[in-house]
Amino acid sequence: MCGIVGYIGPRETAKVLIEGLKRLEYRGYDSAGIAIFNQGKVEIRRKEGKLIKLEELIGEETFDGKVGIGHTRWATHGRPSDENAHPHKAGRVAVVHNGIIENYLSLKEILKSKGHIFTSETDTEIISHLIDEFIQEGNSSLDAVRIALDKIKGSYALGILIEGDERSLLAAKKESPLVVGIGEGEYFIASDVPAVLPYTKNFIFMEDGEIALLSAEGVKVFNVKGEEVSKEPKRVNWNSLMAEKGGYKHFMLKEIFEQPRAVIDTIRGRLSEEKGDAVLENVHFAPTFLKKMKRVSLIACGTSYHAALIGKFLIEEFCRIPVEPDIGSEFRYRNPIVGESNLLIAISQSGETADTLAALREAKRKGTTTLAICNVVESSLAREADQVIYTHAGPEIGVASTKTFVTQLVILFLLALHMGRELGILSKEEGKALIEELVRVPHLMEEMLKASNQVSKIARKYLHARDFLYLGRGINYPIALEGALKLKEISYVHAEGYPAGEMKHGPIALIDREMPVVVLATKNEVYEKVISNIEEVKAREGMVIALASPSDREIVHKVDDVIFIPETIPSLTPILLTIPLQLLAYYMADFKGTDVDQPRNLAKSVTVE
Ligand code: AGP
Repeated sequence: MCGIVGYIGPRETAKVLIEGLKRLEYRGYDSAGIAIFNQGKVEIRRKEGKLIKLEELIGEETFDGKVGIGHTRWATHGRPSDENAHPHKAGRVAVVHNGIIENYLSLKEILKSKGHIFTSETDTEIISHLIDEFIQEGNSSLDAVRIALDKIKGSYALGILIEGDERSLLAAKKESPLVVGIGEGEYFIASDVPAVLPYTKNFIFMEDGEIALLSAEGVKVFNVKGEEVSKEPKRVNWNSLMAEKGGYKHFMLKEIFEQPRAVIDTIRGRLSEEKGDAVLENVHFAPTFLKKMKRVSLIACGTSYHAALIGKFLIEEFCRIPVEPDIGSEFRYRNPIVGESNLLIAISQSGETADTLAALREAKRKGTTTLAICNVVESSLAREADQVIYTHAGPEIGVASTKTFVTQLVILFLLALHMGRELGILSKEEGKALIEELVRVPHLMEEMLKASNQVSKIARKYLHARDFLYLGRGINYPIALEGALKLKEISYVHAEGYPAGEMKHGPIALIDREMPVVVLATKNEVYEKVISNIEEVKAREGMVIALASPSDREIVHKVDDVIFIPETIPSLTPILLTIPLQLLAYYMADFKGTDVDQPRNLAKSVTVE
C-alpha cells in the first residue's frame, strides 16, 4: 500500500512528483504530500484526501528546488488526516514511506526520552527522528540512514531528504517495492515503473537491504555495510500510453476493453503448434521432477485466488495431478504439508501481496519448488520464486483486477498444457487442438465485448437491487465468485458467489422477487444440473440473468435476461464469462456514481498482512 516517488533533475520538481503520484494513486488515496528543497530548506505540502486536494493546496505556488519526494497514502497506523500524511519531517530529515515499522512503539519511547517530539500517530515518523538522531551525532547522510535502518524491524520503501545535503536524494528498500529510474541527467525513485514511465524506460530494481544515493551526477547503490554494489539498469518494454485512460471514462473500462490485446500479448511467442505444446521461456523442471510430483499448491489472494481455483480444474484435467488452491493468508499460518515432491505456484498481479509472498517463503523454507505467475516485472514474488512466468497484460491502474485476471487464466492454461505434454497425459494431437482453440479466444473476446450495451441496460434494470447471488458449477464456479467480488468492490452492492449445487443447502432461503440471480449456464457436462437450479430460483420468484451458449434458444423462455457467450471449449469458457460480469459490475458502479477506479477502503497492492 502507499506509493512513493522522488526526483532529482532539471525539470519542475513539483510537477514531476504530482504526475508520478497520479500514476501511483491506485496504491492508496487517503492523503498525499510532497517535500522539495527550496533554498536549502525542505518545504512540505501535504493534505488529507485524494491528490486533487494536494493540488488545490499547492495552487499556483512554485518551488525552485531540484530535488523532491512525494507520497500517496493508504492508512495503516493513524487515521487519514493532514498530520498523518507523509512526508514526515524531524529536525533536518524528511521521509516518505511505504511499509510498516513493527517496532515503532519501542523506538518512539527511546526517542522521546532523548527529547524528540512527535506530531503524528504514524509508524513512519520514527524513521525521520531516528535518522536525524544519527545526523546530529555527526554521521554522513548515507551512514545515518544505514545505522537507522539497522534499528528498524519491518518493511519499507523510503525516499529521504536531508537538509544540509540538498544535492542528494536517498532511497532504501526492504520488503516493499522500489525502483530507480535512470534518465538523461535526471533520476527518479518510485514504487513502480509506470509512475515515471513518461521520463525513462531504464530502471534499477532495488533489492532488500540496499540504499540508493541519487545526485545530479548519477546513482550509487550501497549494501547494509555501506559498500557500493554494482547494479545494471534494465530496460522495460511498457510505454507510458499504457498507463493512460485513452478516451475511456475510467481505467477499469479501458482495461476491460484491452483484454483481447492483453491475451494476444500473453500468448505471443509461447505456442508451438507443430509440437502441440506451450513454450514457456523461463520454465525448466528437472527431468524427473514432474513425474515424481505428488501435488500442486496454487496460492493467491482475491481475484488471483479465483484464477487459482480455475487453475485447479485445468491442471487436474490436463495433468491428472491433485491440485490444492489456497488463500495466501490461510496457507502461511497452517503449517502446510509441502516439500520436495510438491510444486507451489503463487499467482499475483502485483507480485507484492504480503500474504502471497509469505506463503511462497514458507513453502521455499520447506524445500518446495516454486513458480510465480506475475504481471509486474521484477516484483518481489517474481524474484523470490524459483521460476517466473509473466502475464503480459501491461500496467493495470484500476484497483479492480480485470485484464490481469484473464491473462492469469491464459498462463494457467499454457502451463497446464505444457505440464500435461511433458507428463505424456496429453497427446500431441490433443495439444494442437487446445492451441487451436486458444488462438481463437481474443477474437471471441472481441465478440463478447460487443454485448457491452446490452449489459449496460441490464445493469440499469437491476440498479436498485440490494443483493445479488452468482451461481456456477464446475470450472465456471470460480467465475461466479469473481463476478460477485467485482460487484461488491466497485459498486458496494452485496453479492455472494456460490456453487449452484450448494444453493439448496442455504442461500435458497434468500431468494424472493427482489433478488437477481446471475447464473452461469453455458453448455457443458453440468448444463442440465444448472438448468435445474434456474428452475429452483424461478419457482421462488427470483429474477434470473443467465449467461448462456448461443445455441441454447430454450433458455430465453426460462429466465428474465440472457447474455449469450460465444462458443468455445469448457476450459476456455471462463475467460469469456468474465467479461460480461466485469461490465455488469462496472456499469452498476458507474450508474451509482461510485469511484470506480479507486473504490473506498481498497488499494491495488496489499503489501500488509
Ligand atoms: C480484485 O479486483 C482486487 N484487486 C484484489 O482482490 C486483488 O486481486 C488481490 O488483492 C490480490 O492482488 P495481487 O494479484 O496483486 O496479488
